[in-house]
Amino acid sequence: MADKDDHDSPENPDNRIKLERMAADDEAKKQILEHPSGEPEGKNLHEPMRVGPRTGRQRASRMVDEVSSTGHEWDGITEYDNPMPRWWLWTFYLTIVWAIAYTFFYPAWPLINSATQGLLGTNYRLELAQEIERYDAANADIQGRLVMADLNEIAQDPELANYAGNAGRAVFATWCAQCHGSGAAGSKGYPNLLDNEWLWGGTMEDIHLTVTHGIRNTDDPDARYSEMPRFGADELLDRQQIDQVVEYVLALSGQDHVAAKAALGEEVFADNCVACHGEDGTGDQMQGAPNLTDAVWLYGGDRQTIHDSVYYARFGVMPNWSTRLSEADIRAVTHYVHSLGGGE
Ligand code: HEC
Ligand code: HEC
Repeated sequence: MADKDDHDSPENPDNRIKLERMAADDEAKKQILEHPSGEPEGKNLHEPMRVGPRTGRQRASRMVDEVSSTGHEWDGITEYDNPMPRWWLWTFYLTIVWAIAYTFFYPAWPLINSATQGLLGTNYRLELAQEIERYDAANADIQGRLVMADLNEIAQDPELANYAGNAGRAVFATWCAQCHGSGAAGSKGYPNLLDNEWLWGGTMEDIHLTVTHGIRNTDDPDARYSEMPRFGADELLDRQQIDQVVEYVLALSGQDHVAAKAALGEEVFADNCVACHGEDGTGDQMQGAPNLTDAVWLYGGDRQTIHDSVYYARFGVMPNWSTRLSEADIRAVTHYVHSLGGGE
């Protein structure tokens, strides 16, 4: 074809380059054959390819490489069978040796109940224990003062107050937030510790006692305790009386109510509830009985929730913290809760 002839024609400048290359390759092949392997030139084979214009010999070595390919070919790209660079190989071997040696010097191999300790005697558990000890030792002085201080003087001593505030916040985040919320705002059944409404009292002494012994738990004989009767479930009141007293509680707290029922409920309240919630319904901190006249509710102030509180009663439980926290930590968190805004 005319086309093809044109391509192969030496007149075509592109072809001239091609032909010159082929001639150079032929020349290189000849050189290789004239220098059988073993001669210095043969080493050329394993030398890394140089950058820059190729000499005839390098071109030749490339040709020979092509001969010693792995035989793998993808879309015309063949894989040379070149050895990996020495430096790379030795680095690789070194990492293996290092890794194995490491397992002898540091804790590594798992045993049934523990792990090998390593020749260096590294013990992270011990290090942690020492770190905690160091921390405790550093704070021993201020903690000692916190434990000895009069509860009401903590806030007056800037250094104590600063320490108790920080330590108390940390204790709260760790031990109290899951029930009272990270911001101490509480939720249904878990009192808000930010407001000025206290079930068991908001003075430093009150909070300290509540936190130390807990509420209605069975672990601490000194826990705060009281038990509202289950007026419905235990049939202490009939349905009608419960409906009436619920309307009365709605009236007490200034909410919409059925006046006629509430009037009858006042009597039910006087007979059954005032011993704990007080004549006027404002509650009693000695018994942890909530104030029923305000808008703050532990369980809820709607008709249905008040009904459930009266019918089934509630029995909120808080663990005692004396067995889990040190006295210093209890005092710190007491100070923290007291300082949140609602302390008395
Ligand atoms: C397992 C849940 C739980 C955890 C954890 C918990 N509390 Fe409580 N806490 C309660 C409950 C429930 C009440 C209310 C009990 C009741 O109805 O009287 C309460 C009540 C209180 C009160 C009394 C509030 C008042 O109005 O008198 C204080 C103070 C208090 N908690 C502080 C703490 C502190 C400080 C911690 C952390 C050291 C903590 N609580 C951890 C459940 C918890
Ligand atoms: C023996 C004491 C006692 C008596 C009697 C008692 N209560 Fe209570 N009441 C409590 C206590 C304590 C709580 C808080 C319960 C808790 O936190 O688990 C409570 C909680 C409530 C609540 C929930 C308040 C809230 O904030 O969600 C209502 C409503 C209530 N009482 C109404 C009544 C009514 C009505 C009567 C009478 C029919 C009554 N109580 C009788 C002790 C008592």
